[in-house]
Amino acid sequence: MTLDTQRLQKTIHALLSTGKGILAADESSGTIKKRFASISLESTAESRRDYRDMLLRSEGYERHISGVILYDETVDQMSCSGHTFSQLVFSRGVIPGIKTDEGKEEHPFWGPQTVTRGLKGLGERLRAYTERSKGTLGFTKWRQVIVVDPPPSDGFLDYTMHVMAEQAAWSLQCGFVPICEPEILMDGSHSLDQCRAAIERTLRMLYKCMEEQHVDPALTILKTNMALSGKDALTDPSATVATATLKAFHHSLPTTLPGIVFLSGGQRSPKATENLNACALEAKQTNAPWVITFSYGRALQDDALKLWGGKAANVLSAQAVFLKRARLNGLAQQGKYDQRMEKE
Ligand code: 13P
Repeated sequence: MTLDTQRLQKTIHALLSTGKGILAADESSGTIKKRFASISLESTAESRRDYRDMLLRSEGYERHISGVILYDETVDQMSCSGHTFSQLVFSRGVIPGIKTDEGKEEHPFWGPQTVTRGLKGLGERLRAYTERSKGTLGFTKWRQVIVVDPPPSDGFLDYTMHVMAEQAAWSLQCGFVPICEPEILMDGSHSLDQCRAAIERTLRMLYKCMEEQHVDPALTILKTNMALSGKDALTDPSATVATATLKAFHHSLPTTLPGIVFLSGGQRSPKATENLNACALEAKQTNAPWVITFSYGRALQDDALKLWGGKAANVLSAQAVFLKRARLNGLAQQGKYDQRMEKE
């Protein structure tokens, strides 16, 4: 199999540009329905279009955002700009990508762990995405969630990370940079150290599986979580989070991996920014070989969604809030964020 390595590397380089990160706007129909319910808005094709239109037509967001993860519906949905969303994103010099997993399913014996589906016919789906987006999509994203307590079995990690490695192989073959997202969930009352141990086990398994399937980590991006206590302990000091997170990475990641993008996972927006800043500083201090940045969903969108509230009259103020959040995360990516900036 010959890969278009040059194109893949160019995409990686652009996605990991200094001061920028990725916007995760790939909420599935079920997830966006829940987000809209929080602002008492019905989820329809039109309301979803208006919301994503508000985000993706923000003036100048491309200064802080290098890529946008889209959902199946959004790829060729017409935005109010008269272009499809993938073309709209691309026209701003931002790389659109696509969530390719088809969500999680229960397994008869592995509960509470769940298994991510979507491998069947993936090659064909990816080729169709190239057509549907008129060749603008540059990357894929595949998410597998992992519960910390009770700890995942070796068999579960082996199976799910093999699946993740296989979707990475299909993505590469079809010309997409795979963003592989094992997410250790915050849900539960586990300690930060239990989370760190789960990150290490999961990531070691992922790169072992990639090796077995001849997937070169240098052509992939890792999306994962920081080492955090369960949701009951959202007060972890940033320095502790950063030390544990980078320790886990140094223990489990290949040095050839180009970059890691963090999900926010339920952290409040300013906390996710503060923790990113601490991780950026820790990465510098420990000579980490990877670019580290953000790929937040909720932590970039929460405040803008609330302010927008489904009303056209609020579009400009919601966009301003989104832009501020993106800018602060862009600074945090460089270790230049200060909490006082929240008040500016
Ligand atoms: P959050 O930042 O809201 O966790 O979402 C990121 C994501 O892409 C989940 O798959």
